Amino acid sequence: MNHATPFPGSMTEYLREQESKSLLRFLTCGSVDDGKSTLIGRLLYDSKLIFEDHLAALERDSAKHGTTGEDIDFALLVDGLEAEREQGITIDVAYRFFTTAKRKFIVADTPGHEEYTRNMATGASTADLAIVLVDSRQGILRQTRRHSYIASLLGIRHIVLAVNKIDLVGYDQAVFDRIVADYTAFARDLGFKTVQPIPISARYGDNVTEASSHTGWYAGPTLMHHLETVQVENDARDKPFRFPVQYVSRPNLDFRGFAGQVASGQVAVGDPVSVAKSGHRSRIKEIVTQDGSLDRAVEGQAVTLVLEDQVEVSRGNMLAAPEARPHVADQFQAHLIWFSPTPMIPGRSYILRTEADSVGATVTALKHQVDVNTFAHEAAKSLQMNEIGVCNIGTQSPIAFDAYRDNRVTGGFILIDRFTNATVGAGMIDFPLRRAQNIHWQAIEVDKQARAAIKHQKPSVLWFTGLSGSGKSTIANAVEKLLHAKGRHTYILDGDNVRHGLNRDLGFTEADRVENIRRVAEVAKLMADAGLIVIVSFISPFRSERQLARDMMPDGEFIEIFVDTPLEECARRDPKGLYRKAMAGEIKNFTGIDSPYEPPQQPEIHLHTIGREPVMLAVQVEEFLESRGIR
Ligand code: ADX
Repeated sequence: MNHATPFPGSMTEYLREQESKSLLRFLTCGSVDDGKSTLIGRLLYDSKLIFEDHLAALERDSAKHGTTGEDIDFALLVDGLEAEREQGITIDVAYRFFTTAKRKFIVADTPGHEEYTRNMATGASTADLAIVLVDSRQGILRQTRRHSYIASLLGIRHIVLAVNKIDLVGYDQAVFDRIVADYTAFARDLGFKTVQPIPISARYGDNVTEASSHTGWYAGPTLMHHLETVQVENDARDKPFRFPVQYVSRPNLDFRGFAGQVASGQVAVGDPVSVAKSGHRSRIKEIVTQDGSLDRAVEGQAVTLVLEDQVEVSRGNMLAAPEARPHVADQFQAHLIWFSPTPMIPGRSYILRTEADSVGATVTALKHQVDVNTFAHEAAKSLQMNEIGVCNIGTQSPIAFDAYRDNRVTGGFILIDRFTNATVGAGMIDFPLRRAQNIHWQAIEVDKQARAAIKHQKPSVLWFTGLSGSGKSTIANAVEKLLHAKGRHTYILDGDNVRHGLNRDLGFTEADRVENIRRVAEVAKLMADAGLIVIVSFISPFRSERQLARDMMPDGEFIEIFVDTPLEECARRDPKGLYRKAMAGEIKNFTGIDSPYEPPQQPEIHLHTIGREPVMLAVQVEEFLESRGIR
């Protein structure tokens, strides 16, 4: 029987004892009803870690919400959130800390519901071990496979296969053996170092902290004994020194320090360090913490480092051991787990966030998708929610990183949607791609400014967006005529025209439209660089890609013009007869009919077309341009 450590002797003695204990981080995963919360509640209860007042509340709550009749419902202890009780599922990662005489534990309770893979990934990225719960009556499910695969991807090397609810199959050894055989066969290639199967009943406590009298056929350890004794490698301290810089601390002119957390390895005063992105070198002058200075800082510690020299280091950069520097690249291959209900589309721009850095990024190629049941590689054009793929990623500027296999902190990243700010995916970097290395941007002597000056104009991109038939092209033409009459050098990029040449290979699926706009944005950028006033007239239905185009241009040079004509009016005008066909089902993915249009939220110019002549609207655009000095 394990007991929570009482307070022996003095407080300091107790604390010292706590410090010397090893720490095991683990998570539980499995399907919705496999009993994760019940198991954690049982571990805490049997370790005597639940305080009296919690117990009284628990007994009360069990009577009210519980699913276990007269007994205490341990899941209620863990499922703290009211919403979860009502839905009967766990919806967020909760970290719990507990300790026994032998070890300290941090457990991430992760939900099993399909759409919550995200939380699973979040909990798993720091864990040493995963308890994979399986319901004895159900055996290995798709969810079991998915979670095991994700655990493996995230670098977990130790598994407990907890065959739960063994009481409900009459403590039958044959059932246990079959599940163990199924799992072993499935997990063979997942790279786990240990897989410990244990028959348990979280509800009745069989083999949780005490060996069960009902499973005489089982000779292995109890769950608690295994958790207390399993050897996990914590080698983060022995790895090369990595220090992602969270921010530059400049409280006064005499002090300049770099704040962050040591991601791996250690550093001491006097040690040489390299600045990852520039390769500049310096030495550690001082290691500052809230409680004074240190001689040495190790993995996990939050400190501020002061260097001997005035080298340039900004947020997102990394200080590293000079003899083992991280990769610095703007292209790499990664495994990506997709969380969002909106699919991942190659070419779309996301925010990529590493431990300290944050940059714009696109998936440049989706190489394949992985079937979590068979591990087969399948061709795919996009990743749907919960899917896992291998892809190439390009970032707007180089980032410093390691391969995830070498370092779980500096090799991981998340992708964030630019508009909703939601985390839409998590990635594990495989290796850098060096293809950009030998292609250097050619410095050209006659630059954009010189080219614009000779034309006596300010280059810009006038980006018209709106539904098909909204009047974009007509107004764009009128604007070009007005500019041309004033001697301006212009060029129109029109959807229908560009789709006859450069973008002839693209159709109207979401992925093709993303690529359509990406290419046009690149062309518009080159033309603006040539000194032109570029007029772009594309439906460009998605905010992300219009934002991508905007981000490519210097501030003030991108002017978004929303040609706002209601769908009914466009369909009534139907200049090319396309709405009629789309409504008859003859054209698929037609914008506004069976494909979405996301109106701009803050366009520079908002044109309401109903009752207004195109020429008048063009004058409205011209007036705006004049006010911006584009004349
Ligand atoms: S975008 O959505 O990718 O920006 P783009 O502006 O290039 O579209 O092309 C739109 C033009 O293609 C429309 O004006 C219309 O003439 C034609 N078209 C053909 N099929 C479709 C479709 N399914 N949806 C929208 N436009 C279509």
